[in-house]
Amino acid sequence: MALSTLDGLAVSGKRVLVRADLNVPVRDGKITDLTRIERLSPTIRELAGKGAHVIVLSHFDRPKGKRVPAMSLAPIAGTLGEVLGRKVRFAEDCIGLPAQQAIDALNDGDIAVLENTRFHPEEEANDPAFAAALASLGDIFVNDAFSTAHRAHASTEGVAHLLPSYAGRLMQAELEALAAALTHPDRPVAAIVGGAKVSTKLDLLGNLVGRVDVLVIGGAMANTFLAASGKPVGRSLQEADMHATARDILARAKAAHCDVVLPVDVVVAAELKANAASAAVPVDAVPDDQLILDLGPATVAGLIARLDALKTLVWNGPLGAFETPPFDAATVALARAVGAATAAGKLRSIAGGGDTVAALHHAGVAEQMSYISSAGGAFLEWLEGKTLPGVAVLGG
Ligand code: 3PG
Repeated sequence: MALSTLDGLAVSGKRVLVRADLNVPVRDGKITDLTRIERLSPTIRELAGKGAHVIVLSHFDRPKGKRVPAMSLAPIAGTLGEVLGRKVRFAEDCIGLPAQQAIDALNDGDIAVLENTRFHPEEEANDPAFAAALASLGDIFVNDAFSTAHRAHASTEGVAHLLPSYAGRLMQAELEALAAALTHPDRPVAAIVGGAKVSTKLDLLGNLVGRVDVLVIGGAMANTFLAASGKPVGRSLQEADMHATARDILARAKAAHCDVVLPVDVVVAAELKANAASAAVPVDAVPDDQLILDLGPATVAGLIARLDALKTLVWNGPLGAFETPPFDAATVALARAVGAATAAGKLRSIAGGGDTVAALHHAGVAEQMSYISSAGGAFLEWLEGKTLPGVAVLGG
């Protein structure tokens, strides 16, 4: 079954329930990043422009089935209105009379946001009666929340069984970008996987070795692979109980003809502190009292040299402790080279995950990437090869 999109869909005068992901970062009551709202806007504009009665459903944070005032969507609905330059109504509940009244007041092209779906425990339980209550509010369901499609909740999965359902433009773009990255990529395709722990990325590494031609392992995770190969890692973060697993991943990669790239040199310091004294050393010469905090310049030069031969690159996880300079050097240098190769039309580059996106912004190349996913957990689960319930129900 092919994914149903908004192409050619007649929505004028229809009540369209749009599952959005308004789970935006907020600090001291202020939204710190509008990306998710901005990327949702095309779908809402398109539907409203075609005369739909647009009804936006979303969760925000993790209120665990209780009404938590600090987790109300009311202020975020206000910001959505500002981004759209349109009046956006707000209903103080996502089902029942408040929702019904707000929806009844909509004219063609009007927009309403309903209160946090997770104020009801039935949302995360994917309760059929709750899904039916949501479905009763609309004629059509549009899911534009790829970033929450790994959750089988009433507003992401249950409701889609009950109404004619479609992928919104952001959902469509995410799925197209991911398909171009791993389902039918231009080869050779490489993946860069960074982050702290092998144990949290086992499924990811296991899936990637069978799908990509080159797998670059960075971050503290690389320390575990180095230690498993008998290299000294000093006092570095690593997982001693994952050595056998790391060796097994390397053996599986070899059998699948996936070229795994591990560091040949690393940057070490006595402590993880901004501007700490640091040195680059070969991976055979990490002193006992030092921590590995970044990939070394020879490793980075080798990675940059390899970019020329690649057609597609997927990136999840920074290469070093990029939030603490100078241990951002490898991530920044590689990100800039990836950005330049992409801008020159030589490489398709796809990245996702909160840390990765922050690192690409830090390197100033976020705009140059072919695609940056709006998702964290869902992006990872997709790369792990898992079925995302919110996508599967749309036929994707
Ligand atoms: C996210 O921010 O990754 C999504 O909104 C999902 O949120 P959750 O992890 O609370 O389900």
